[in-house]
Amino acid sequence: MTSPELRLPGRLRAPAPGWSTRADVVVIGSGIAGLTAALRLVDQVGRVLVVTKDVLDAGSTTWAQGGIAAALGPGDTPEQHLADTLVAGAGACDREAVRALVTEGPAAVWDLIELGTRFDLHDDGHLSLTREGGHHRDRIAHAGGDATGAEIQRALLAAVADNPRIEVIAHALALDLQLGQDGGVAGVTLHVLGEGQRDGVGAVDCRAVVLASGGLGQVFDQTTNPVVSTGDGAALALRAGAVLRDLEFVQFHPTVMYLGADSRGQQPLVSEAVRGEGAFLVDERGRRLMDGVHPLADLAPRDVVAKAIMTRMVSSGRPHMWLDARHLGRAGAEDDAGARAFWERRFPTIHATCLAHGIDPVTDLIPVAPACHYASGGVRTDLWGRTGVPGLYATGEVACSGVHGANRLASNSLLEGLVFSRRIAEVLPGELRPYADPAPDLRDEGLISGAVRADLQALMSDRAGVLRHAPGLSEAADRLVGLAADATDRPDPAAWETTNLVTVAAALALAAARREETRGSHWREDFPDREDARWAGHLDARLTEDGSLRLDFVPSVATDLTPTPAPPGCASHPDHRPDHPAQA
Ligand code: SIN
Repeated sequence: MTSPELRLPGRLRAPAPGWSTRADVVVIGSGIAGLTAALRLVDQVGRVLVVTKDVLDAGSTTWAQGGIAAALGPGDTPEQHLADTLVAGAGACDREAVRALVTEGPAAVWDLIELGTRFDLHDDGHLSLTREGGHHRDRIAHAGGDATGAEIQRALLAAVADNPRIEVIAHALALDLQLGQDGGVAGVTLHVLGEGQRDGVGAVDCRAVVLASGGLGQVFDQTTNPVVSTGDGAALALRAGAVLRDLEFVQFHPTVMYLGADSRGQQPLVSEAVRGEGAFLVDERGRRLMDGVHPLADLAPRDVVAKAIMTRMVSSGRPHMWLDARHLGRAGAEDDAGARAFWERRFPTIHATCLAHGIDPVTDLIPVAPACHYASGGVRTDLWGRTGVPGLYATGEVACSGVHGANRLASNSLLEGLVFSRRIAEVLPGELRPYADPAPDLRDEGLISGAVRADLQALMSDRAGVLRHAPGLSEAADRLVGLAADATDRPDPAAWETTNLVTVAAALALAAARREETRGSHWREDFPDREDARWAGHLDARLTEDGSLRLDFVPSVATDLTPTPAPPGCASHPDHRPDHPAQA
């Protein structure tokens, strides 16, 4: 008897669109990537529509604590930022993409400042830069202490609000692309929880779509990602014919506050910047965990720290380890006042979150354990955000631009969204397609029941989480077949999201099973070494016509250090701006 095979929907079952509208460009997502794309496109194309699944600031950008990395400090250079990024990426980065990131990053951050973002400054007015894991320089700009993402989001939203030509539809879940005769973008269907004309399923005729919909953390049962991160953009792109690259490289943040084994969904992050300020990890006997593990100790790349914590958790039988930050801000003083003031100024969000959970970081150890944090893989793009589906671009966490490789360097994610959205805005206006009628959609329609969501998350955490091995991944693959077969005829947001979660989980588990090595954030207990001779390259997943997934190994092409020439007029200038008041 042969076992049943995985079958995923080729498009989401949904009612026929009951309303329609038109925009030259639809941007799906409203974090740093989506809003940057919208702001930079709006003066170049006729009409830009931003659609967002919840309210405008409900995505991951708002939650980013640590900051945004760029070579802005004295003595730092894009070259050093490139070197650190490549080391963290464990041989799987695209060097040209990283070069674009680090050389265009500083100017992009200055533009954010000019837009109104208030980064933290030293008393002399220079940018206050800190350090995080894997960085050899202080190069993380932060805002509001540990509220960097929220401040960037605020500034971008203010700019969008000032621009009446950017239209926004909130509470809108993007369902599927409508494709023209040539297989390129003709429109997108949305489900809007709205009132009046735009309520329920509708269609937007458009000439291009920029996917900036964030990550897939909700595939796992504990994640730092907000509830909206259900892999919708990646699943939509896969169904439209795009490639999902390197989904096995899911980053597990080492220091997520441990709230108990039963705690589910979004968990509080304890930023790496806390270790950047001097906190260190300890085990159940109070011994320093990272001593002798890596030359950068507690500031080793994230995968190294997560593995050290997990290893100790397994060997000690404890569900978490601890972060000792009790000495921060004391400067030798015995009383707690200085320490309290330090926490309130430098890490107000984490301080408040700790207190809310009965942990006082001034006097207590903070229980921490790794949890899903970031998808380093995603929709494969070229250096200008193009996905291969004509008219579809991807940027930010949903994309795999090549900058993160097998493990994203801390605080490179906001920067990626910023830089690559700017790049998309450089090329997209010159590539706009004519409006076209959607071709008859021959993709097999389907929908997976929302009832399987909790089972899926538990399965993925158990079998495709931090520690992976062949029997576990094989069990995950078998059980995913059953979860995908749990169909429903009733279209609703729970079923649409669950279908997307199962779709990206299947691609992730398949790639994790195929990659028989340990590299970056992909940790195989049964293949503990990095195997460049066999695995230097990428795993590309495609959805076939019969609803199965095809996985291809694409060896890395060696790239030299020559930057890709920018198109004429491109604002890609690596230099600092010495005349800027906040120049460090
Ligand atoms: C952190 O603050 O530790 C997270 C920063 C990041 O994910 O880059």
